[in-house]
Amino acid sequence: GAPVEVDIDKLAPGDLMVVEWRGKPVWILHRTPQMLAALAKSEPDLADPGSAVESQQPDYARNPHRSVKPDYLVAVGICTHLGCSPSSAFEPGKAEMGADWPGGFLCPCHGSTFDFAGRVFKNKPAPTNLEIPPHKYLSDARLLIG
Ligand code: FES
Repeated sequence: GAPVEVDIDKLAPGDLMVVEWRGKPVWILHRTPQMLAALAKSEPDLADPGSAVESQQPDYARNPHRSVKPDYLVAVGICTHLGCSPSSAFEPGKAEMGADWPGGFLCPCHGSTFDFAGRVFKNKPAPTNLEIPPHKYLSDARLLIG
């Protein structure tokens, strides 16, 4: 599949957009400072906080934010369990997720949860973190996926 070029200059902090790449939905989330702070808070509860599973991200995204720029998450929005699409970002403390919920994504099929870097929480059916596609910036507001 061909790489996909995306304009992200209108993506406000906290907003998520979905583009298609190789027939898959790719999320682009403009993380807020609160979302970035939640990443560190989630770490003790994650199955693979250091992104040790090499197949799930390019080497340059093996960092705590799993991306090129900390402000933006670029991830394939397909659950690594059986392929459902997790819901968009749930804010920290969202009532239905419980007071301890640091924020992230929920897969409605069997309850896997992921943080704002697509890292899966422990003891969930999804075996790995969400896939991070190859991506780079052509300019501040122009992203190339693939
Ligand atoms: Fe997501 Fe099963 S497909 S938890």
